[in-house]
Amino acid sequence: MELQEFVASLESLALQAEKAFDNANSAEEFEAARVQFVGARSGQMKAIQKELGSVQAESRPEAGKKLNEAKNRIQAALDAAQVRVDSSGASTKVTGPLLDPTLPGTRRHLGRVHPITQTIEHLKEIMGRLGFAVVEGPEVEDTWHNFIALNIPEDHPARDPLDNFYLSVAGKTAVDVNADEARLLRSQTSTVQIRVMEANPPPVRIISLGRVYRPDPADATHFPMFHQMEGLWIERGVNMAQLKSVLRMFATSYLGGDVTIRFRPSFFPFTEPSVEADFLWNDQWIEFGGAGMVDPNVLKAVGYDPEQVTGFAFGLGVERLCMRRHGVLDIRDLYRNDLRFLHQF
Ligand code: PHE
Repeated sequence: MELQEFVASLESLALQAEKAFDNANSAEEFEAARVQFVGARSGQMKAIQKELGSVQAESRPEAGKKLNEAKNRIQAALDAAQVRVDSSGASTKVTGPLLDPTLPGTRRHLGRVHPITQTIEHLKEIMGRLGFAVVEGPEVEDTWHNFIALNIPEDHPARDPLDNFYLSVAGKTAVDVNADEARLLRSQTSTVQIRVMEANPPPVRIISLGRVYRPDPADATHFPMFHQMEGLWIERGVNMAQLKSVLRMFATSYLGGDVTIRFRPSFFPFTEPSVEADFLWNDQWIEFGGAGMVDPNVLKAVGYDPEQVTGFAFGLGVERLCMRRHGVLDIRDLYRNDLRFLHQF
């Protein structure tokens, strides 16, 4: 082969290879060009190299030099293409940028603590500062803890099946269950007073927050399930002035500003004397619950000596406190699970 012819085909191969590598925009295109031009088995460079032997002997050194030049050009084009293809990470499938930072993100919706739970935590915190420990009691109760030990006799209207959620027990419907076996959803947290005093000698100073159940039709101020905060302080010499102070300090802490407390005479079987506690807030008297000095019969029922210790108890409505503080007008809003309402807290 003439030297000229050999050099011409080298030149044309180098040009073709440079073009192929320059146009390679994906790993696949790059690999195809690599195999075509510099592949170890059937690459075109390999083929042309074989033809070197057919060039006349005296022209061979010059032909070898040209061959090396062409190799170097092709290698340079290959290297450049390799860098470009690797750094773009491009494949034939992805053309645009992998991430578009101008697109709107996906907002995460975080839940919130329910307003009643928030209120309960707040009440615990205030009463904790006044030295009241937090205890819990069961929601399914027996008649001893819900009534008898609380000085509520068998014939008392508060025990009426129409005013309580009695449960069927051991396959018997509620009406066939006798008083000892009867179980009901507690109608008040005063049950916890009994449980705490049965389990601990005096002094006790506790609060208990939880659900209570009464078969009231739901309206703006009633719901068949609601929460109470029960308070109990039994110790030598505890008197009604302390009850009033504790409730006033509590109301002032919870509602803010100085709150006036009013006691109206009332009746509960388990306290004597008994009162309804009202708070004067924003020029309005608001009823918050019942209270009184623990009846000696209750102290006797749990084995305390009413000659040695006295004390007071109170039971406040948690929903009512929460609603007053936040301006909620309908108790049912608290239990509708409407996120538009709940997200405001
Ligand atoms: N348990 C009473 C009620 O549910 C409230 C109360 C508690 C009254 C403690 C006096 C003492 O209405």
